[in-house]
Amino acid sequence: MNKEIETAIKAAKLAGERLEYYFETIIEHEEKEDKSLVTKADLEAEEIIVKTLKEAFPSHNIFSEESGDLGIKSDYTWVLDPLDGTLNFTRGLPIFATSIALVKDNHPLLSVTYNPVIKSLYYSEKGKGAFWNEERMRVSDNKDPFKAIITIGRARDIKNKEKTNEILNKVYFKTHQRILGSSALELAWLAAGRTEAFISVGLKNWDVYGGLLLVEEAGGKITDFQGRPLGDDKQYFLASNGKIHEEFLSILNR
Ligand code: IPD
Ligand code: CA
Ligand code: CA
Repeated sequence: MNKEIETAIKAAKLAGERLEYYFETIIEHEEKEDKSLVTKADLEAEEIIVKTLKEAFPSHNIFSEESGDLGIKSDYTWVLDPLDGTLNFTRGLPIFATSIALVKDNHPLLSVTYNPVIKSLYYSEKGKGAFWNEERMRVSDNKDPFKAIITIGRARDIKNKEKTNEILNKVYFKTHQRILGSSALELAWLAAGRTEAFISVGLKNWDVYGGLLLVEEAGGKITDFQGRPLGDDKQYFLASNGKIHEEFLSILNR
Protein backbone atom coordinates (compact mmCIF):
# COMPACT_ATOMS: atom_id res chain seq x y z
CA MET A 1 0.00 0.00 0.00
CA ASN A 2 1.30 3.44 -0.81
CA LYS A 3 1.35 6.46 1.43
CA GLU A 4 -1.71 8.08 -0.24
CA ILE A 5 -4.14 5.22 0.47
CA GLU A 6 -2.69 4.63 3.93
CA THR A 7 -3.20 8.30 4.79
CA ALA A 8 -6.75 8.33 3.40
CA ILE A 9 -7.62 5.25 5.51
CA LYS A 10 -6.06 6.83 8.59
CA ALA A 11 -7.99 10.08 8.03
CA ALA A 12 -11.30 8.25 7.49
CA LYS A 13 -10.84 6.17 10.65
CA LEU A 14 -9.92 9.20 12.76
CA ALA A 15 -12.97 11.03 11.43
CA GLY A 16 -15.00 7.89 12.15
CA GLU A 17 -14.00 8.00 15.82
CA ARG A 18 -15.35 11.55 16.04
CA LEU A 19 -18.59 10.59 14.26
CA GLU A 20 -19.06 7.63 16.61
CA TYR A 21 -18.60 9.97 19.57
CA TYR A 22 -21.60 12.06 18.45
CA PHE A 23 -23.72 9.25 16.96
CA GLU A 24 -26.98 8.60 18.84
CA THR A 25 -26.60 11.78 20.89
CA ILE A 26 -28.89 14.74 20.50
CA ILE A 27 -27.08 16.88 17.99
CA GLU A 28 -28.28 20.19 16.59
CA HIS A 29 -28.25 20.73 12.85
CA GLU A 30 -28.43 23.68 10.50
CA GLU A 31 -30.00 23.62 7.06
CA LYS A 32 -27.75 24.88 4.26
CA GLU A 33 -28.87 26.73 1.13
CA ASP A 34 -29.19 23.49 -0.86
CA LYS A 35 -31.39 22.12 1.97
CA SER A 36 -28.76 19.61 3.09
CA LEU A 37 -27.85 19.52 6.79
CA VAL A 38 -24.68 20.27 8.70
CA THR A 39 -23.80 19.49 12.33
CA LYS A 40 -20.72 19.94 14.48
CA ALA A 41 -19.96 16.27 13.75
CA ASP A 42 -19.62 17.09 10.01
CA LEU A 43 -17.37 20.07 10.77
CA GLU A 44 -15.14 18.34 13.31
CA ALA A 45 -14.76 15.22 11.17
CA GLU A 46 -13.83 17.43 8.22
CA GLU A 47 -11.24 19.31 10.25
CA ILE A 48 -9.61 16.02 11.27
CA ILE A 49 -9.45 14.77 7.68
CA VAL A 50 -8.14 18.04 6.26
CA LYS A 51 -5.44 18.25 8.96
CA THR A 52 -4.34 14.64 8.35
CA LEU A 53 -4.17 15.10 4.56
CA LYS A 54 -2.45 18.49 4.77
CA GLU A 55 0.24 17.16 7.09
CA ALA A 56 1.01 14.23 4.77
CA PHE A 57 0.60 16.04 1.42
CA PRO A 58 1.07 19.79 1.86
CA SER A 59 1.36 20.38 -1.89
CA HIS A 60 -1.97 18.70 -2.77
CA ASN A 61 -5.21 20.63 -3.13
CA ILE A 62 -8.26 19.75 -0.99
CA PHE A 63 -11.91 20.20 -1.92
CA SER A 64 -14.26 19.37 0.91
CA GLU A 65 -18.00 19.74 1.27
CA GLU A 66 -18.08 22.13 4.21
CA SER A 67 -14.91 24.21 3.62
CA GLY A 68 -14.87 24.25 -0.19
CA ASP A 69 -11.74 24.48 -2.31
CA LEU A 70 -8.40 25.25 -0.62
CA GLY A 71 -7.26 26.62 -3.98
CA ILE A 72 -3.77 25.06 -3.92
CA LYS A 73 -2.37 24.75 -7.45
CA SER A 74 -1.74 21.05 -7.88
CA ASP A 75 -2.53 18.20 -10.28
CA TYR A 76 -3.91 16.33 -7.28
CA THR A 77 -7.05 17.20 -5.33
CA TRP A 78 -8.48 15.35 -2.36
CA VAL A 79 -12.27 15.45 -2.70
CA LEU A 80 -14.10 14.58 0.48
CA ASP A 81 -17.39 14.39 2.27
CA PRO A 82 -16.74 14.03 6.01
CA LEU A 83 -20.27 12.80 6.70
CA ASP A 84 -22.42 11.57 3.85
CA GLY A 85 -25.87 10.92 5.22
CA THR A 86 -26.14 13.70 7.81
CA LEU A 87 -29.94 13.44 8.01
CA ASN A 88 -29.68 9.74 8.89
CA PHE A 89 -26.91 10.56 11.37
CA THR A 90 -29.00 13.15 13.22
CA ARG A 91 -31.79 10.56 13.65
CA GLY A 92 -29.50 7.83 14.94
CA LEU A 93 -29.82 5.83 11.71
CA PRO A 94 -26.48 4.13 11.03
CA ILE A 95 -26.52 4.62 7.24
CA PHE A 96 -23.80 7.23 6.76
CA ALA A 97 -20.13 7.28 5.79
CA THR A 98 -17.00 9.32 5.39
CA SER A 99 -15.84 9.45 1.80
CA ILE A 100 -12.39 10.53 0.58
CA ALA A 101 -11.03 10.38 -2.97
CA LEU A 102 -7.77 11.50 -4.54
CA VAL A 103 -8.60 12.97 -7.92
CA LYS A 104 -6.50 13.90 -10.98
CA ASP A 105 -8.06 15.42 -14.13
CA ASN A 106 -11.54 14.80 -12.73
CA HIS A 107 -10.90 11.07 -12.32
CA PRO A 108 -10.46 9.37 -8.94
CA LEU A 109 -7.13 7.57 -8.45
CA LEU A 110 -7.95 6.09 -5.07
CA SER A 111 -10.84 6.22 -2.65
CA VAL A 112 -11.91 5.30 0.85
CA THR A 113 -15.44 5.04 2.25
CA TYR A 114 -15.82 4.25 5.93
CA ASN A 115 -18.75 3.58 8.24
CA PRO A 116 -17.61 3.54 11.88
CA VAL A 117 -20.77 1.91 13.24
CA ILE A 118 -20.48 -1.33 11.29
CA LYS A 119 -16.67 -0.85 11.08
CA SER A 120 -16.81 -1.27 7.33
CA LEU A 121 -13.95 0.11 5.32
CA TYR A 122 -14.28 0.13 1.53
CA TYR A 123 -11.25 1.21 -0.49
CA SER A 124 -9.83 1.09 -3.97
CA GLU A 125 -6.88 2.18 -6.04
CA LYS A 126 -7.13 2.56 -9.80
CA GLY A 127 -6.17 -0.71 -11.48
CA LYS A 128 -5.71 -2.55 -8.18
CA GLY A 129 -9.23 -3.66 -7.33
CA ALA A 130 -11.67 -2.70 -4.61
CA PHE A 131 -11.78 -4.08 -1.06
CA TRP A 132 -14.22 -4.39 1.84
CA ASN A 133 -12.00 -4.58 4.92
CA GLU A 134 -9.46 -7.17 3.68
CA GLU A 135 -11.80 -8.86 1.23
CA ARG A 136 -11.78 -8.25 -2.54
CA MET A 137 -15.13 -6.84 -3.69
CA ARG A 138 -16.96 -7.84 -6.84
CA VAL A 139 -20.30 -6.59 -8.12
CA SER A 140 -23.21 -9.04 -8.07
CA ASP A 141 -23.92 -11.50 -10.90
CA ASN A 142 -27.66 -10.99 -10.83
CA LYS A 143 -29.16 -10.36 -14.27
CA ASP A 144 -32.81 -10.42 -13.22
CA PRO A 145 -34.26 -6.93 -12.56
CA PHE A 146 -37.13 -8.41 -10.53
CA LYS A 147 -34.61 -9.79 -8.06
CA ALA A 148 -32.42 -6.68 -8.12
CA ILE A 149 -32.20 -3.67 -5.82
CA ILE A 150 -31.66 -0.23 -7.31
CA THR A 151 -30.90 2.65 -4.96
CA ILE A 152 -31.23 6.33 -5.78
CA GLY A 153 -29.38 9.38 -4.51
CA ARG A 154 -30.70 12.79 -5.43
CA ALA A 155 -30.07 16.47 -4.85
CA ARG A 156 -32.80 18.17 -2.83
CA ASP A 157 -33.96 20.90 -5.23
CA ILE A 158 -37.35 20.67 -6.93
CA LYS A 159 -36.00 19.94 -10.42
CA ASN A 160 -34.00 16.93 -9.22
CA LYS A 161 -36.80 15.72 -6.96
CA GLU A 162 -39.20 15.78 -9.93
CA LYS A 163 -36.66 13.89 -12.03
CA THR A 164 -36.28 11.34 -9.20
CA ASN A 165 -40.03 10.95 -9.05
CA GLU A 166 -40.12 10.20 -12.80
CA ILE A 167 -37.36 7.61 -12.38
CA LEU A 168 -39.11 6.00 -9.40
CA ASN A 169 -42.31 5.72 -11.44
CA LYS A 170 -40.42 3.93 -14.18
CA VAL A 171 -38.62 1.43 -11.95
CA TYR A 172 -41.25 0.92 -9.25
CA PHE A 173 -42.93 -2.21 -10.62
CA LYS A 174 -39.83 -3.52 -12.40
CA THR A 175 -37.35 -3.95 -9.55
CA HIS A 176 -36.80 -3.40 -5.83
CA GLN A 177 -35.91 0.19 -5.06
CA ARG A 178 -34.54 2.07 -2.06
CA ILE A 179 -33.54 5.63 -1.16
CA LEU A 180 -31.11 5.03 1.69
CA GLY A 181 -29.73 8.56 2.18
CA SER A 182 -25.98 7.99 1.87
CA SER A 183 -24.88 7.87 -1.74
CA ALA A 184 -21.27 7.13 -0.78
CA LEU A 185 -22.32 4.03 1.12
CA GLU A 186 -24.84 3.01 -1.53
CA LEU A 187 -22.10 2.99 -4.17
CA ALA A 188 -19.87 0.96 -1.82
CA TRP A 189 -22.69 -1.56 -1.34
CA LEU A 190 -23.18 -1.80 -5.11
CA ALA A 191 -19.43 -2.53 -5.41
CA ALA A 192 -19.74 -5.17 -2.67
CA GLY A 193 -22.49 -6.97 -4.61
CA ARG A 194 -25.23 -6.18 -2.11
CA THR A 195 -27.30 -4.18 -4.61
CA GLU A 196 -27.37 -4.17 -8.40
CA ALA A 197 -27.55 -0.50 -9.36
CA PHE A 198 -27.39 3.09 -8.20
CA ILE A 199 -28.75 6.19 -9.88
CA SER A 200 -27.36 9.66 -9.23
CA VAL A 201 -29.78 12.50 -9.83
CA GLY A 202 -27.84 15.75 -9.55
CA LEU A 203 -25.40 14.69 -6.82
CA LYS A 204 -22.18 16.55 -6.03
CA ASN A 205 -18.62 15.35 -6.71
CA TRP A 206 -17.92 14.77 -3.02
CA ASP A 207 -20.95 12.44 -2.77
CA VAL A 208 -19.88 10.17 -5.61
CA TYR A 209 -16.19 10.36 -6.56
CA GLY A 210 -15.10 7.79 -3.97
CA GLY A 211 -17.93 5.39 -4.74
CA LEU A 212 -17.48 5.58 -8.50
CA LEU A 213 -13.95 4.19 -8.28
CA LEU A 214 -15.13 1.40 -5.92
CA VAL A 215 -17.76 0.35 -8.48
CA GLU A 216 -15.35 0.55 -11.40
CA GLU A 217 -12.70 -1.49 -9.59
CA ALA A 218 -15.27 -4.08 -8.47
CA GLY A 219 -16.17 -4.74 -12.12
CA GLY A 220 -19.26 -2.54 -12.41
CA LYS A 221 -20.38 -0.25 -15.22
CA ILE A 222 -21.07 3.48 -15.11
CA THR A 223 -22.71 5.51 -17.89
CA ASP A 224 -24.95 8.52 -18.32
CA PHE A 225 -28.68 7.86 -18.83
CA GLN A 226 -28.11 7.43 -22.57
CA GLY A 227 -25.52 4.70 -22.03
CA ARG A 228 -22.53 6.91 -22.89
CA PRO A 229 -19.32 6.75 -20.85
CA LEU A 230 -19.29 9.29 -18.07
CA GLY A 231 -17.32 12.46 -18.82
CA ASP A 232 -16.12 15.11 -16.39
CA ASP A 233 -19.69 15.88 -15.30
CA LYS A 234 -20.64 13.19 -12.81
CA GLN A 235 -23.99 14.54 -11.59
CA TYR A 236 -26.32 12.20 -13.48
CA PHE A 237 -25.44 8.56 -14.03
CA LEU A 238 -26.43 4.94 -13.78
CA ALA A 239 -23.91 2.70 -12.02
CA SER A 240 -24.61 -1.02 -12.02
CA ASN A 241 -23.19 -4.52 -11.83
CA GLY A 242 -22.90 -4.33 -15.64
CA LYS A 243 -25.06 -7.41 -16.22
CA ILE A 244 -28.28 -5.50 -15.68
CA HIS A 245 -27.16 -2.19 -17.17
CA GLU A 246 -28.84 -2.32 -20.60
CA GLU A 247 -32.12 -3.50 -19.08
CA PHE A 248 -32.15 -0.62 -16.59
CA LEU A 249 -31.18 1.89 -19.31
CA SER A 250 -34.12 0.74 -21.41
CA ILE A 251 -36.46 1.03 -18.40
CA LEU A 252 -35.16 4.57 -17.73
CA ASN A 253 -35.63 5.59 -21.36
CA ARG A 254 -39.08 4.10 -21.88
C1 IPD B 1 -26.60 13.49 0.98
C2 IPD B 1 -26.55 12.03 0.59
C3 IPD B 1 -27.86 11.56 0.02
C4 IPD B 1 -28.32 12.42 -1.13
C5 IPD B 1 -28.36 13.87 -0.66
C6 IPD B 1 -26.99 14.31 -0.19
P1 IPD B 1 -25.10 14.75 2.85
O1 IPD B 1 -25.33 13.94 1.45
O2 IPD B 1 -25.53 11.75 -0.34
O3 IPD B 1 -27.78 10.24 -0.44
O4 IPD B 1 -29.56 11.99 -1.58
O5 IPD B 1 -28.79 14.73 -1.64
O6 IPD B 1 -27.02 15.68 0.16
O7 IPD B 1 -25.73 16.10 2.68
O8 IPD B 1 -25.70 13.94 3.93
O9 IPD B 1 -23.61 14.82 2.88
CA1 CA C 1 -23.00 13.99 0.78
CA1 CA D 1 -21.87 15.65 3.93
